[in-house]
Amino acid sequence: MSLLFDKATLGSLPLQNRLVMAPLTRSRASGNIPNELMAQYYAQRASVGLIITEGTSPSPNGLGYARIPGVFSVEQTAGWTPVTKAVHAQGAKIFMQLMHCGRVAHEFNLPAGAHVLAPSAVAAAGEMFTDSAGMKPHTVPLAMTEAQIRATIEEFAQAAKNAVTAGFDGVELHGANGYLLEQFIRPNSNRRTDRYGGSIENRARFVLEAAEAVISAVGKEKVGIRLSPFGVFNDMPVYPEMEADYTWLAQQLSARGLAYIHLVDHSPMGAPPVPDSVKTAIRGAFKGALILSGGYDAVRAESDLAAGKCDLVAVGRPILANPDLVARWKAGAALNAPDFGTFYTPGPKGYTDYPALG
Ligand SMILES: Cc1cc2nc3c(=O)[nH]c(=O)nc-3n(C[C@H](O)[C@H](O)[C@H](O)COP(=O)(O)O)c2cc1C
Repeated sequence: MSLLFDKATLGSLPLQNRLVMAPLTRSRASGNIPNELMAQYYAQRASVGLIITEGTSPSPNGLGYARIPGVFSVEQTAGWTPVTKAVHAQGAKIFMQLMHCGRVAHEFNLPAGAHVLAPSAVAAAGEMFTDSAGMKPHTVPLAMTEAQIRATIEEFAQAAKNAVTAGFDGVELHGANGYLLEQFIRPNSNRRTDRYGGSIENRARFVLEAAEAVISAVGKEKVGIRLSPFGVFNDMPVYPEMEADYTWLAQQLSARGLAYIHLVDHSPMGAPPVPDSVKTAIRGAFKGALILSGGYDAVRAESDLAAGKCDLVAVGRPILANPDLVARWKAGAALNAPDFGTFYTPGPKGYTDYPALG
């Protein structure tokens, strides 16, 4: 008897098991267009219950990193269709993670005419890789006008429609890890004095309006969100009201009927731990499904599911390196180690060539 490997549902969506492939940026989409190699990569991993794709931009302005895919053009939407077909053929469901990078960007990675946008004109500390000039400090973003806020929300809604057209079962709003939605939530990156800044009600307004727009575009059962309370990635320091803010946000998301909240815990990657009290508070405040992630192995996944701490468990690095992770975990087999050097490099090496069990 295994909760992890049993059939389950996410809302009314049937899943072949409770294991989720976490979103993993792999930078194989040259020209920001998904391709056959990506379809092969996702199909190899489709013995999980649910795949959440790598962060995918809803807008030319959101393409902060080199070679990440988008979902705002006809060509991109067409490029995603073979991915969803290949994944569905193996029995998994697939959500697209909508990631607008906001200020975690360099202008060299953006197409002509696009702009690095953020709630306020405050650059994120640190550097990022560009294909044309190597490592560069993050671009100082433009503070979004109300018109740009409205246009960006509309881009999220259209991107969600495009994802559904491409065969996706839903979308996950990337509200974690220092990208645009989190840049609005956090007071260090959001210094606005209008109705999008200041109190948590104001700082969360952009996220909630984006969620509402996406829900009216594709339906609430098809919308989840990823959040990283206590996450510090991409220059996002912890601040005193953090736990209260995220508990309030979870209540608001619950009232809007989102299918799930997906919590990030990067303590296994060296980040400060997410207090258990936060996970429990969000579990209590949100009536949809809860996905937990970060450093899971089969034993811990099974035990957190059995304890009712979450409904599904997501894994990143283990499934990156082990396309047949479900079979390996079921058999208690040894795992391939992830090769950090090929996480973001172009081509099949370290992408589609991890061996499956013979
Ligand atoms: C190569 C790589 C790329 C990642 N890309 C994303 C991403 O696009 N979106 C996201 O929300 N998280 C991303 N993450 C974080 C993972 O989804 C996950 O939270 C993290 O790897 C911790 O889980 P794990 O211990 O099972 O690997 C990435 C992690 C890695 C290692």
